[in-house]
Amino acid sequence: MLSTQSHLRVGMVGYAFMGAAHSQAWRTVNRFHDLPLHARMTAVCGRDEAKVAAAAARLGWDEHTTDWRALVARDDIDLIDVCTPGDSHAEIAIAALAAGKHVLCEKPLANTIDEARQMVAAADRAAASGVRSMCGFNYRRVPAVALMRRMVAGGRIGDIRHIRAAYLQDWITDPQFPLVWRLQKDKAGSGALGDIGAHIIDLTQFVTGQHITGVTALTETFVKERPLPQASSGLSAAAGDGNGSAATGLVTVDDAALFLARLDGGAVATYEATRFATGRKNGLRVEINGSLGSVAFDFERMNELEFYDATGPSTEQGFTRILVTEPEHPYMSAWWPPGHGIGYEHSFTHQARDLIEAIATGAAPAPSFTDALQVQLVLDAVLRSAGQGSGWTDVEPILAEVAA
Ligand SMILES: NC(=O)c1ccc[n+]([C@@H]2O[C@H](COP(=O)([O-])OP(=O)(O)OC[C@H]3O[C@@H](n4cnc5c(N)ncnc54)[C@H](O)[C@@H]3O)[C@@H](O)[C@H]2O)c1
Repeated sequence: MLSTQSHLRVGMVGYAFMGAAHSQAWRTVNRFHDLPLHARMTAVCGRDEAKVAAAAARLGWDEHTTDWRALVARDDIDLIDVCTPGDSHAEIAIAALAAGKHVLCEKPLANTIDEARQMVAAADRAAASGVRSMCGFNYRRVPAVALMRRMVAGGRIGDIRHIRAAYLQDWITDPQFPLVWRLQKDKAGSGALGDIGAHIIDLTQFVTGQHITGVTALTETFVKERPLPQASSGLSAAAGDGNGSAATGLVTVDDAALFLARLDGGAVATYEATRFATGRKNGLRVEINGSLGSVAFDFERMNELEFYDATGPSTEQGFTRILVTEPEHPYMSAWWPPGHGIGYEHSFTHQARDLIEAIATGAAPAPSFTDALQVQLVLDAVLRSAGQGSGWTDVEPILAEVAA
């Protein structure tokens, strides 16, 4: 039963890295954005009673539970926010949609194409009765990225020729870093590819309005065996069992993925996703070159957008650094005076803002599960290409038969 009040009562599953980021978003969204619905942090779910109780108190949730099925079944929850690793996204999201709850699901949507298609089918069934679903590609909501899309759509760089995208991290360069869930295929689906490559696939398709149709790819796993973890959260972990054990396990995902792509609007692209770019912490960079100019974004300078306008006099041409902090810039009127920048967490608040607005107005939020399935199909094409000596591989069409 959905709330008839002006509240959107949220139940969140998972309370670590993304759980904290999403909690911050639900906590702040109505304090800065004027919205028709008020997010209420009703209950958080985790598997360990003591840890989830502590997380609920720390992050600001009214209640906690260790049973996500009970959470999904509650009458006083309107939306389920899925912040767990990919191996549980499909089960939780499909159950929540079947129970009539709106769903926000972290990326990548699922670990396999089959799961992603089942999730799209469940979302389509639920949408018929006004239940909404969205995937958490939060980088779309960085104001400079949203501005980039606006400028590209407005024709400021003309016809798009090149897309150059890289997402560079270095948190597992140490071979003694333990075998956390992100390094296990059954839990994560893939490695750097699905974790961070998925973001630049979504971001570039979002900005250009073009979709990847085919790829030639390679992947590499530099460190093939690692110590088992003692504890982990997000991108940090401790090795060993606390008794000096040296037990190890095999890494079953890619450490790095690189691919060339063609897009349906005629652009060509290069993508690089790696966790071995020593010195690069969260280096998400995208540059798009068009017939009339270029735009470039670097997350480590997330309040800025570079713009090259090739239509002006040659004597005055050069890349312009746009400080994306004016109230006329996407999302920025809710925050601080011009020049007072925002950070990583704000992309999640903007995500919550857009989802609440869609739910309140009856609009379909984006990225939809179908949009996220399309990203999943690109990930799948990359892995198939890499598995067959980098041969050219078409992305499977989105409209395929879905098992009921
Ligand atoms: N949008 C982004 O920028 C971004 C960044 C990091 C992670 N993610 C995505 O968010 C998801 C979670 O990643 P994370 O970094 O927060 O992981 P994490 O390891 O920090 O946290 C995972 C949480 O899920 C809980 N959990 C695991 N399995 C569960 C189950 N079966 N039932 C209930 N709880 C369970 C864990 O106890 C923990 O609280 C992943 O899909 C990941 O790809 C997205």
